[in-house]
Amino acid sequence: MEVIVMDNAFEISKAVSSIIIDEVKKNPKAVLGFATGASPVETYKRMIEAYKDGKVSFKDVTTFNLDEYCGLEREDENSYFYFMKDNLFGKTDVDFEKVNFLSGDEAQSEKNCREYEEKIAAAGGIDIQLLGIGTNGHIGFNEPSESFSDGPFKVKLTQSTIDSNSKYFKDKKMPGYALTMGIGDIMRAKKIILIATGESKANAVFKMVKGEVTPSCPASVLQNHGDAVIYLDKESAKLL
Ligand code: PGA
Repeated sequence: MEVIVMDNAFEISKAVSSIIIDEVKKNPKAVLGFATGASPVETYKRMIEAYKDGKVSFKDVTTFNLDEYCGLEREDENSYFYFMKDNLFGKTDVDFEKVNFLSGDEAQSEKNCREYEEKIAAAGGIDIQLLGIGTNGHIGFNEPSESFSDGPFKVKLTQSTIDSNSKYFKDKKMPGYALTMGIGDIMRAKKIILIATGESKANAVFKMVKGEVTPSCPASVLQNHGDAVIYLDKESAKLL
């Protein structure tokens, strides 16, 4: 695990977007794993700018997102599909035919999880997986638990996650369940980039980087990945 501390979120977004853009230039058919939440938004802005400046095309990339809430339609503005459309896909030439998402349709969860794993394998695995980290150490929606998960699964969200994310739900109650890629799916990515900013992440960052590898802090598993790079600002790195 490599840890890089930068001055602020803008500097991080420049560094991370460059890595992704260079990968896509080298391999236009790259398979990219994306994350939602506040952490990657600046990076997505830099990717949109590069696309608009004619520096890169995303038309041949295949994408997989980490997670989706149960019970939300894609068109629901609270869904993560909508978030990605709004913050990246719809503002670039990403081909929606190549966008893969866990479905919010609860009746289909099990089938959907199985098929998602098969699709990742059929695409040849994920080249770069982008991650944020929850204040409780979660990655994707892999909440603290007794064991590390492998493939995609349905998860009951913890109170800490509900407290962190409820603010984004204006017109309805936040769902209590989500589908998420498992830890195995994340760890099989060839390269992993995690972004954490702000003091509220300092404790989780400390446990991820300096703590023991334990499913009670799911992000700690990244210590075992051969190419995981952690981008921090000074506030999130303050306990290291
Ligand atoms: P955030 O969420 O980027 O909105 O802080 C990260 C996460 O919960 O994984």
